[in-house]
Amino acid sequence: MKDRIAVVTGAAGGIGSATVRRLLADGLQVVATDVEGASVRDLSEHHIALDVTNPHDVARAMGEILDRFGRVDVLVNNAGITGSQEATTAGETAIEEFDRVMAVNVRGPFLCARALLPAMVDAGGGQIITIASVAGLIAFPGRCAYTTSKGAAVMLARSLAVDYGHLGIRSNAICPGMVETPMTQWRLDQPDLRARVESRIPIGRVAQPDDIADAVSVLASGRLAYANGSAIVLDGGWSSW
Ligand SMILES: NC(=O)c1ccc[n+]([C@@H]2O[C@H](COP(=O)([O-])OP(=O)(O)OC[C@H]3O[C@@H](n4cnc5c(N)ncnc54)[C@H](O)[C@@H]3O)[C@@H](O)[C@H]2O)c1
Repeated sequence: MKDRIAVVTGAAGGIGSATVRRLLADGLQVVATDVEGASVRDLSEHHIALDVTNPHDVARAMGEILDRFGRVDVLVNNAGITGSQEATTAGETAIEEFDRVMAVNVRGPFLCARALLPAMVDAGGGQIITIASVAGLIAFPGRCAYTTSKGAAVMLARSLAVDYGHLGIRSNAICPGMVETPMTQWRLDQPDLRARVESRIPIGRVAQPDDIADAVSVLASGRLAYANGSAIVLDGGWSSW
């Protein structure tokens, strides 16, 4: 069987880099992309600088990838930001900051999916995996922009599932709880904050990036073949009470 091709956005980060390593270990060819182009150079033989918010950048990068490989089997929409610490409640969040979070977390996955869908349709199938968040299912207090964006990311995944499932393209969201990555390290490095977070997680620990890469790996493998439009929660039971 020919190598399967995966594209991972935001690949320089905690979950992104773990995902690239896992998919490479699974035997896929992986194109690691990130807005910080230099930081994905060592991750995979194939790497491209890509700002997911920029339509021209997305078209150029996906065009290059399709020219090089002829197709993409798996898109992992992973790039994401929480917004600054001032992006809190709706009343306190600067309009520009709201737009910035929506641009990376919603417009980004939309643009990347949009750019690859024609090739997936031509190939008769593909998988789109969007790293959303538990914040897309329940509202995180004081995180209006992030919560809103992740809710939209879940629904983008579902919209793709509904519109393209009959063409062999499956789209699912993964909804992690708290994962130890550069995004959350500032909080987890404070022992009292870490203890407070962990006390709410029934299995008693925050997730590691590999916990999330596990789920991407299973979906990308083609197992879980009936999953389409699913929002797979991986939070150690955090949101169950
Ligand atoms: N860490 C958590 O607790 C957690 C929980 C739930 C969901 N998530 C989601 O998982 C995904 C990965 O998060 P992480 O924790 O690994 O964060 P991270 O900060 O370690 O990595 C995010 C990566 O996205 C890249 N990025 C930012 N803006 C970009 C853009 N415009 N274009 C391309 N790349 C861009 C960054 O350069 C960075 O490498 C995000 O979508 C995040 O919202 C994280």
